Amino acid sequence: MPAGSVRFQSLATSEDVAAATAERILAAAEQAVAERGRFLLVLAGGRTPIMAYTLLVGKPAQWDRWSIFFGDERCLPPDHPERNSVAARHAFLDQVPIPPANIYPMPAEQGPVAAALSYQRTLSGSAFGKPAAVPRLPFDLVLLGMGEDGHTASLFPGHPVPDGPLVIPVLDAPKPPPKRVSLTPKALCAAHAMLVLVTGADKADALTAWRAGADLPVARVAALGAALVLVDRAAEGAALH
Ligand code: 6PG
Repeated sequence: MPAGSVRFQSLATSEDVAAATAERILAAAEQAVAERGRFLLVLAGGRTPIMAYTLLVGKPAQWDRWSIFFGDERCLPPDHPERNSVAARHAFLDQVPIPPANIYPMPAEQGPVAAALSYQRTLSGSAFGKPAAVPRLPFDLVLLGMGEDGHTASLFPGHPVPDGPLVIPVLDAPKPPPKRVSLTPKALCAAHAMLVLVTGADKADALTAWRAGADLPVARVAALGAALVLVDRAAEGAALH
Protein backbone atom coordinates (compact mmCIF):
# COMPACT_ATOMS: atom_id res chain seq x y z
CA MET A 1 0.00 0.00 0.00
CA PRO A 2 1.68 3.25 -1.05
CA ALA A 3 1.73 5.87 1.70
CA GLY A 4 -0.93 8.42 1.01
CA SER A 5 -3.18 11.05 2.54
CA VAL A 6 -5.35 10.19 5.52
CA ARG A 7 -9.04 10.98 5.12
CA PHE A 8 -11.26 11.82 8.11
CA GLN A 9 -15.01 11.19 7.90
CA SER A 10 -17.22 12.59 10.67
CA LEU A 11 -20.34 10.74 11.78
CA ALA A 12 -22.79 11.63 14.53
CA THR A 13 -22.52 8.71 16.94
CA SER A 14 -20.43 5.62 17.68
CA GLU A 15 -23.37 3.56 16.43
CA ASP A 16 -23.13 5.40 13.10
CA VAL A 17 -19.39 4.65 13.00
CA ALA A 18 -20.07 0.98 13.70
CA ALA A 19 -22.75 0.82 11.00
CA ALA A 20 -20.52 2.53 8.44
CA THR A 21 -17.69 0.18 9.36
CA ALA A 22 -19.84 -2.92 8.88
CA GLU A 23 -21.01 -1.63 5.50
CA ARG A 24 -17.44 -0.97 4.41
CA ILE A 25 -16.26 -4.40 5.58
CA LEU A 26 -19.00 -6.13 3.56
CA ALA A 27 -18.29 -3.98 0.49
CA ALA A 28 -14.56 -4.63 0.73
CA ALA A 29 -15.24 -8.34 1.05
CA GLU A 30 -17.44 -8.38 -2.05
CA GLN A 31 -14.80 -6.53 -4.05
CA ALA A 32 -11.90 -8.66 -2.81
CA VAL A 33 -13.69 -11.94 -3.52
CA ALA A 34 -14.68 -10.71 -6.99
CA GLU A 35 -11.13 -9.59 -7.79
CA ARG A 36 -8.98 -12.08 -5.87
CA GLY A 37 -11.26 -14.89 -4.78
CA ARG A 38 -10.66 -14.26 -1.10
CA PHE A 39 -11.00 -11.61 1.65
CA LEU A 40 -8.17 -11.19 4.15
CA LEU A 41 -9.42 -9.09 7.08
CA VAL A 42 -7.39 -7.88 10.07
CA LEU A 43 -9.52 -7.30 13.16
CA ALA A 44 -8.91 -4.69 15.85
CA GLY A 45 -9.75 -4.96 19.51
CA GLY A 46 -11.75 -2.33 21.36
CA ARG A 47 -15.32 -1.29 21.92
CA THR A 48 -16.12 0.39 18.60
CA PRO A 49 -14.74 -2.39 16.39
CA ILE A 50 -16.71 -4.92 18.42
CA MET A 51 -19.90 -2.92 17.85
CA ALA A 52 -19.25 -3.13 14.09
CA TYR A 53 -18.59 -6.88 14.18
CA THR A 54 -21.97 -7.59 15.75
CA LEU A 55 -23.64 -5.88 12.76
CA LEU A 56 -22.05 -8.40 10.38
CA VAL A 57 -24.02 -11.31 11.82
CA GLY A 58 -26.79 -12.43 9.48
CA LYS A 59 -25.57 -10.35 6.55
CA PRO A 60 -25.08 -12.01 3.15
CA ALA A 61 -21.43 -12.68 2.40
CA GLN A 62 -19.26 -15.38 0.84
CA TRP A 63 -18.00 -16.28 4.31
CA ASP A 64 -16.07 -19.32 3.09
CA ARG A 65 -13.73 -16.91 1.23
CA TRP A 66 -12.96 -14.87 4.35
CA SER A 67 -9.72 -15.24 6.34
CA ILE A 68 -9.41 -13.51 9.69
CA PHE A 69 -6.21 -12.15 11.24
CA PHE A 70 -5.66 -9.94 14.29
CA GLY A 71 -3.82 -6.64 14.57
CA ASP A 72 -2.83 -7.35 18.14
CA GLU A 73 -3.57 -9.57 21.09
CA ARG A 74 -3.22 -9.50 24.82
CA CYS A 75 -1.07 -12.23 26.42
CA LEU A 76 -3.88 -13.89 28.33
CA PRO A 77 -5.24 -17.46 28.35
CA PRO A 78 -6.97 -18.48 25.09
CA ASP A 79 -10.50 -18.13 26.46
CA HIS A 80 -9.92 -15.03 28.60
CA PRO A 81 -12.77 -12.53 28.02
CA GLU A 82 -10.27 -9.68 27.57
CA ARG A 83 -8.64 -11.36 24.57
CA ASN A 84 -9.37 -9.57 21.29
CA SER A 85 -9.89 -12.97 19.65
CA VAL A 86 -12.45 -13.98 22.29
CA ALA A 87 -14.32 -10.69 21.95
CA ALA A 88 -14.40 -11.11 18.15
CA ARG A 89 -15.59 -14.72 18.50
CA HIS A 90 -18.43 -13.71 20.77
CA ALA A 91 -19.36 -10.69 18.62
CA PHE A 92 -19.45 -12.50 15.27
CA LEU A 93 -16.93 -15.20 14.45
CA ASP A 94 -18.95 -17.86 16.31
CA GLN A 95 -22.07 -16.78 14.42
CA VAL A 96 -20.93 -16.75 10.79
CA PRO A 97 -19.73 -19.72 8.70
CA ILE A 98 -16.12 -18.66 8.18
CA PRO A 99 -14.16 -21.95 8.06
CA PRO A 100 -12.34 -22.31 11.42
CA ALA A 101 -9.11 -23.07 9.52
CA ASN A 102 -9.37 -19.56 8.04
CA ILE A 103 -9.25 -17.85 11.42
CA TYR A 104 -5.71 -17.08 12.59
CA PRO A 105 -5.68 -15.98 16.24
CA MET A 106 -2.35 -14.84 17.64
CA PRO A 107 -1.10 -17.56 20.02
CA ALA A 108 -0.57 -14.90 22.70
CA GLU A 109 -0.97 -17.45 25.49
CA GLN A 110 2.55 -18.60 24.52
CA GLY A 111 3.92 -15.27 25.76
CA PRO A 112 4.93 -12.21 23.72
CA VAL A 113 8.19 -13.44 22.16
CA ALA A 114 7.10 -16.95 21.20
CA ALA A 115 3.74 -15.70 19.92
CA ALA A 116 5.35 -12.98 17.81
CA LEU A 117 7.74 -15.48 16.22
CA SER A 118 4.89 -17.88 15.53
CA TYR A 119 2.64 -15.25 13.94
CA GLN A 120 5.56 -13.90 11.93
CA ARG A 121 5.93 -17.39 10.45
CA THR A 122 2.20 -17.58 9.82
CA LEU A 123 2.19 -14.30 7.90
CA SER A 124 5.46 -14.83 6.06
CA GLY A 125 4.58 -18.36 5.09
CA SER A 126 7.71 -19.86 6.60
CA ALA A 127 5.99 -21.91 9.27
CA PHE A 128 7.03 -25.55 8.84
CA GLY A 129 4.02 -27.76 8.74
CA LYS A 130 1.62 -24.85 8.57
CA PRO A 131 -1.70 -25.32 6.83
CA ALA A 132 -0.82 -24.97 3.16
CA ALA A 133 -3.80 -22.67 2.74
CA VAL A 134 -2.29 -19.79 4.73
CA PRO A 135 -2.86 -16.95 2.28
CA ARG A 136 -0.21 -14.43 1.46
CA LEU A 137 -0.19 -10.70 2.18
CA PRO A 138 -1.33 -8.08 1.32
CA PHE A 139 -4.40 -7.98 3.49
CA ASP A 140 -7.59 -6.70 1.88
CA LEU A 141 -8.76 -4.60 4.83
CA VAL A 142 -7.10 -3.65 8.12
CA LEU A 143 -9.28 -2.38 10.97
CA LEU A 144 -7.72 -0.33 13.76
CA GLY A 145 -8.85 1.53 16.84
CA MET A 146 -7.09 4.35 18.63
CA GLY A 147 -6.35 4.61 22.33
CA GLU A 148 -6.53 7.77 24.44
CA ASP A 149 -2.76 8.14 24.08
CA GLY A 150 -2.77 7.73 20.32
CA HIS A 151 -1.77 4.08 20.33
CA THR A 152 -3.12 1.72 17.72
CA ALA A 153 -3.05 -2.06 17.76
CA SER A 154 -0.47 -2.49 20.53
CA LEU A 155 1.90 0.16 19.18
CA PHE A 156 2.29 2.71 21.95
CA PRO A 157 3.89 6.18 22.08
CA GLY A 158 7.52 6.05 23.20
CA HIS A 159 7.84 2.39 22.23
CA PRO A 160 10.10 2.22 19.15
CA VAL A 161 9.25 -0.43 16.55
CA PRO A 162 12.01 -2.23 14.59
CA ASP A 163 11.75 -1.93 10.79
CA GLY A 164 12.18 -5.60 9.89
CA PRO A 165 9.54 -7.76 11.50
CA LEU A 166 5.87 -8.07 10.69
CA VAL A 167 5.01 -8.97 14.28
CA ILE A 168 6.59 -7.85 17.53
CA PRO A 169 6.35 -8.73 21.22
CA VAL A 170 5.22 -5.95 23.56
CA LEU A 171 6.49 -6.39 27.12
CA ASP A 172 5.47 -3.16 28.83
CA ALA A 173 2.28 -1.80 27.33
CA PRO A 174 0.95 1.17 29.32
CA LYS A 175 -2.59 -0.10 28.69
CA PRO A 176 -3.05 -3.32 30.67
CA PRO A 177 -2.23 -6.06 30.20
CA PRO A 178 1.41 -5.13 29.72
CA LYS A 179 2.34 -8.20 27.68
CA ARG A 180 0.96 -8.26 24.17
CA VAL A 181 1.70 -9.14 20.57
CA SER A 182 1.26 -6.62 17.76
CA LEU A 183 1.51 -6.33 14.02
CA THR A 184 4.01 -3.66 13.05
CA PRO A 185 3.34 -0.69 10.75
CA LYS A 186 5.08 -2.70 8.02
CA ALA A 187 2.45 -5.45 8.33
CA LEU A 188 -0.52 -3.16 8.96
CA CYS A 189 0.13 -1.09 5.83
CA ALA A 190 0.54 -4.22 3.67
CA ALA A 191 -3.13 -3.86 2.80
CA HIS A 192 -5.44 -2.69 0.06
CA ALA A 193 -7.40 -0.58 2.55
CA MET A 194 -7.25 0.58 6.17
CA LEU A 195 -10.06 1.82 8.42
CA VAL A 196 -9.35 3.54 11.74
CA LEU A 197 -12.28 3.91 14.16
CA VAL A 198 -12.19 6.76 16.68
CA THR A 199 -15.18 7.27 18.97
CA GLY A 200 -15.84 8.71 22.39
CA ALA A 201 -14.95 11.93 24.20
CA ASP A 202 -11.99 10.16 25.80
CA LYS A 203 -10.29 10.15 22.39
CA ALA A 204 -10.72 13.89 21.72
CA ASP A 205 -7.31 14.99 22.99
CA ALA A 206 -5.44 12.37 21.00
CA LEU A 207 -7.52 13.15 17.88
CA THR A 208 -6.79 16.87 18.28
CA ALA A 209 -3.08 16.14 18.64
CA TRP A 210 -3.14 13.84 15.63
CA ARG A 211 -4.81 16.40 13.43
CA ALA A 212 -2.33 19.02 14.67
CA GLY A 213 0.50 16.86 13.36
CA ALA A 214 1.62 14.96 16.47
CA ASP A 215 3.83 11.98 15.71
CA LEU A 216 1.59 9.33 17.26
CA PRO A 217 1.63 5.61 16.45
CA VAL A 218 -1.88 5.88 14.97
CA ALA A 219 -0.79 8.85 12.83
CA ARG A 220 2.23 7.00 11.51
CA VAL A 221 0.30 3.82 10.69
CA ALA A 222 -2.66 5.68 9.18
CA ALA A 223 -0.35 7.70 6.91
CA LEU A 224 1.44 4.55 5.73
CA GLY A 225 -1.89 2.89 5.06
CA ALA A 226 -3.62 5.93 3.48
CA ALA A 227 -6.37 5.21 5.99
CA LEU A 228 -9.94 6.35 6.14
CA VAL A 229 -10.61 7.49 9.71
CA LEU A 230 -14.22 7.29 10.91
CA VAL A 231 -14.79 9.60 13.87
CA ASP A 232 -17.88 10.41 15.88
CA ARG A 233 -18.98 13.79 17.20
CA ALA A 234 -17.90 12.97 20.75
CA ALA A 235 -14.32 12.30 19.68
CA GLU A 236 -14.32 15.46 17.56
CA GLY A 237 -15.78 17.58 20.33
CA ALA A 238 -12.52 19.11 21.54
CA ALA A 239 -11.01 18.91 18.07
CA LEU A 240 -13.33 21.68 16.85
CA HIS A 241 -12.66 24.22 19.62
C1 6PG B 1 -6.29 -3.29 22.44
C2 6PG B 1 -6.70 -2.72 21.11
C3 6PG B 1 -6.45 -1.24 21.08
C4 6PG B 1 -7.80 -0.60 20.88
C5 6PG B 1 -7.75 0.84 21.28
C6 6PG B 1 -9.16 1.44 21.25
O1 6PG B 1 -5.93 -4.47 22.50
O2 6PG B 1 -6.35 -2.56 23.42
O3 6PG B 1 -6.17 -3.36 20.06
O4 6PG B 1 -5.55 -0.82 20.09
O5 6PG B 1 -8.19 -0.69 19.52
O6 6PG B 1 -7.23 0.91 22.61
O7 6PG B 1 -9.96 0.71 22.13
P1 6PG B 1 -11.43 1.27 22.50
O8 6PG B 1 -12.16 1.43 21.19
O9 6PG B 1 -12.01 0.20 23.39
O10 6PG B 1 -11.20 2.57 23.22
